[in-house]
Amino acid sequence: MKNKATIVLDINNQKKEYSYDILDSTRGPKSIDMRTFYKESGLFTYDVGFTSTASCSSSITYIDGEKGELRYRGYEIEKLVSNHSYLEVCYLLLNEKLPSKEQLKNFDIELRHRSFLHEGLKNIFSAFPDNAHPMATLSAGVTSLASFYFDHINIKDDLGYKEMAYRLIAKIPTVAAFSFRHSIGIPFIEPDINLSFTENFLFMLRAYPHHNLKVTKDGQEKIDPVEIKALDTIFSLHADHEQNASTTVVRTVASTGAHPYVAISAGINALWGRAHGGANESVIAQLQMIGSVDNVDKYIKKAKDPNDEFRLMGFGHRVYKNFDPRAKVLKKLQDELKQTIHLDSHLLDIATKIETIALNDEYFIKRNLYPNIDFYSGIILTALRIPKQMFTAIFVIGRTVGWITQYIEFKKDKQSKIARPRQIYKGK
Ligand code: SDX
Repeated sequence: MKNKATIVLDINNQKKEYSYDILDSTRGPKSIDMRTFYKESGLFTYDVGFTSTASCSSSITYIDGEKGELRYRGYEIEKLVSNHSYLEVCYLLLNEKLPSKEQLKNFDIELRHRSFLHEGLKNIFSAFPDNAHPMATLSAGVTSLASFYFDHINIKDDLGYKEMAYRLIAKIPTVAAFSFRHSIGIPFIEPDINLSFTENFLFMLRAYPHHNLKVTKDGQEKIDPVEIKALDTIFSLHADHEQNASTTVVRTVASTGAHPYVAISAGINALWGRAHGGANESVIAQLQMIGSVDNVDKYIKKAKDPNDEFRLMGFGHRVYKNFDPRAKVLKKLQDELKQTIHLDSHLLDIATKIETIALNDEYFIKRNLYPNIDFYSGIILTALRIPKQMFTAIFVIGRTVGWITQYIEFKKDKQSKIARPRQIYKGK
């Protein structure tokens, strides 16, 4: 017996009844199948920002906003980041199961061999001004990959999807590192296939030309394993997040039949916004602007003022009406890192004061505004000596596997259609 939703339209004193199937879920809310509603009733449903709309069915990531729960392929995020590397999380998202030792080894080698860029592609960076934001060059670099691998415009089989996934996951960190190095006018450092995914990224970001970063007799700095583990955790926490704005953009571009790499590039552009992935960079800029714990009260007041457009960056979330579980992991990581690497205590003091006040203030409590992933990631990335303008690029590196997995699920879903919402027309 199917569950049904009955909608009674009472318009101009005329009542008409419509009945729609209720679609089951394995976790979380069920959905009313509204696909024939307009054809039968002549009315649209109005849902700005899609607050009550399921745009697809998916088996990749589950979020429970009330409980503050996040699962990738059914595994709780806390357990995943404690026991598995980012590459294992990538494999899980793409293949619906964690890899065996052998599968992980092969996956790792495949990515290492694909981390290099076509020599021609490197020329695009010189087209950008020195101070170009790395997100602009990163997006352009990923779009240009579509020209170098145009054959992927029409992927028909799992082998093609696998090749696309491996290529993008492997190359985007290199494009990101080159984007940063171009922005400060220093030569690129090629990937080193002897290094792990995360260490290699830090190496490409930090290494001096013609030097490696191992401890050398002249005391060259090395990449600390604590830093590698912290960044690996950050990549895993950002890997996927259901139908967020940038994933919705990736699925929308996928629905038009555009090249898969430009769908991912579109996701990069959407993520850049400060209401979305760009918030991690804005959080640090905001903490620096607030400047002292003595100024926190003034800015909390501004955040609460409906006539002031100032918003507390890193607070609030469309889905989480409880603590963002990723923020909890980062808070724990922040406490661990305090013992091992230098955390900017000045910024940390300001952030802690904001958090303490906001979590006890009626305005934030009433609106279920809690710190989200971006509130803590910026302080940790600063401690990892990641330049602020690279924070959202770090988010991109983590999220690329999620976008790709969602893209492939969309393409394989027989119910997928071109995204084409309607409107309430208010014009003449
Ligand atoms: C990410 O969707 C995802 O999953 C995204 C993400 C992912 O992994 O992909 O989790 C990553 O984008 C995290 C969010 C990062 N953004 C920020 O930290 C920017 C600051 N936050 C806000 O801009 C806001 O909270 C959003 C955009 C995150 C959510 O916006 P909503 O759900 O549309 O909420 P809203 O704008 O309708 O706000 C509801 C109320 C409003 O007050 P009232 O009109 O009811 O009086 O809460 C207020 C808002 O003014 N409010 C805030 C606030 N966020 C919401 N007030 C002050 N400071 C804030 N940060």
